[in-house]
Amino acid sequence: MNPTPSNAPPKIGVLTVSDRASRGEYEDRGGPAAINYLETTITTEVEFCKRIVPDVQSEIESAVIDMTDHQQCSLVVITGGTGPAIRDVTPEALEAVCDKMLPGFGEAMRAVSLLQVPTAILSRQTAGIRSDPDGGSLIITLPGSPKAIAECLDGVLAAVPYCIELIGGPILETDPARVVAFRPKKKK
Ligand code: MTE
Repeated sequence: MNPTPSNAPPKIGVLTVSDRASRGEYEDRGGPAAINYLETTITTEVEFCKRIVPDVQSEIESAVIDMTDHQQCSLVVITGGTGPAIRDVTPEALEAVCDKMLPGFGEAMRAVSLLQVPTAILSRQTAGIRSDPDGGSLIITLPGSPKAIAECLDGVLAAVPYCIELIGGPILETDPARVVAFRPKKKK
């Protein structure tokens, strides 16, 4: 990752993984739902980088690498492709481009989602870090449905700003009426 100019707003990548949305056969609803959630929850001014790719592992990997290494996104959310179907390969792509996995994100998202629908057990959602000395990137996979995206983000967002700080990224503030960002107290 090239160092981001200090006055530039932090960047967030929003990657939609869907064969049909990438072909324009239907409108992408996952990407806009993720942006709407993040825009209304994160109060720090941020810039969004959006892309839609088909369920092809190499294309997902290239899009994530572009968002992290070239566009310098500190956070990337990926919607879609986390289920058990043959073409669902988002978790495999994520593992290939990350050097640390954070399985707690998937555990938390499945825990909140199982309170909503029994098929949440089919989700292979996870998160990981692509490290960089100039500031790494946190990458989180979300399901494709807009309702599920909000439910899953509600389950994990409190830990996201602290995680980004731990990997050398920018400080993101949240609206406490929506999500209180948790930062453990520093030891004296
Ligand atoms: N999580 C929530 N909160 N709500 C849902 O409706 N759908 C599940 C699951 N997680 C769902 C959910 C289903 S049916 C699948 S197959 C997986 O997410 C993967 O979804 P994806 O293929 O859209 O990534």
